[in-house]
Amino acid sequence: MGAEAIRGELDRWKACLEEATGYLRGRIGSFEPRLGIVLGTGLGQLAEHIAVEWEFPYPEIPHFPVSTVESHAGRLLFGHLEGCPVMVMQGRFHYYEGYSMKEITFPIRVMYRLGVRWLFISNAAGGLNPAMQVSDLMIIRDHINLLPENPLRGANWDELGPRFPDMSMPYDVELIRRAREIAEEMGIRVHEGVYVAVAGPNLETKAEYQFLRLIGADAVGMSTVPEVIVARHMGMKVFGVSVITDIGYPVEKVEEVTLERVIEAARRAEPWLTELIRRLVQKQFACGEGES
Ligand code: HPA
Repeated sequence: MGAEAIRGELDRWKACLEEATGYLRGRIGSFEPRLGIVLGTGLGQLAEHIAVEWEFPYPEIPHFPVSTVESHAGRLLFGHLEGCPVMVMQGRFHYYEGYSMKEITFPIRVMYRLGVRWLFISNAAGGLNPAMQVSDLMIIRDHINLLPENPLRGANWDELGPRFPDMSMPYDVELIRRAREIAEEMGIRVHEGVYVAVAGPNLETKAEYQFLRLIGADAVGMSTVPEVIVARHMGMKVFGVSVITDIGYPVEKVEEVTLERVIEAARRAEPWLTELIRRLVQKQFACGEGES
């Protein structure tokens, strides 16, 4: 691809982004979402606590990808959570579904264009830290990207963020500190650790789990990192949590992983994660803090 074609791709992508943003802006009027939430596996219940004002099935929004995984609904919600104006992705996109990284992260760009400056994101993950048990929560402190493509590849839109964005601290330390305090108040087990993203869709071999532990990861999953890279590119503050749905290390503990078991393990952790996020939103956004 020549330089001209690369530029042309950026222009097309800009136009798609403006069209999707314009469509939503035309319907939500002057509503200003501050916090974006990606409801991954384990956080579906949070939607019940949102006072929803607008709801858009993904196929209705111009240029939005459409989720192909049945366990993920596909809707964009606008409303309030604990009084905070939020924009929520109920259902997300994964690389293994066949989307490009630009498609997976398109909704995060739309969030930003609509005013969102904070991102909360959750996922299901395999536990690699031997201290972990099924249905535990892990606050993401850092990540390792093993996905074969990067959402920032191609011409950079300088208005959104720099060509070479810093990634020395992708997850907001203040939000991590608050979340740990809340977990302690609630009396729940939380870990803090490194999430490694792989392409999937197959689960890991024992040798791969061992490798991922060896390179410093505490949990492995197939999402989140592309969204976080794009959010950080635009300077959004990010908080991420994994629900540990199966154990990958030590390898003697590896059992067959089925979608049913992953969903069941995530479902058991849902009330804790939902409560943690609710309280975090209360603390972070109720008292006029969180403006940036
Ligand atoms: N590996 C990768 N992705 C996952 C896992 C796992 O063990 N569990 C849930 N998502």
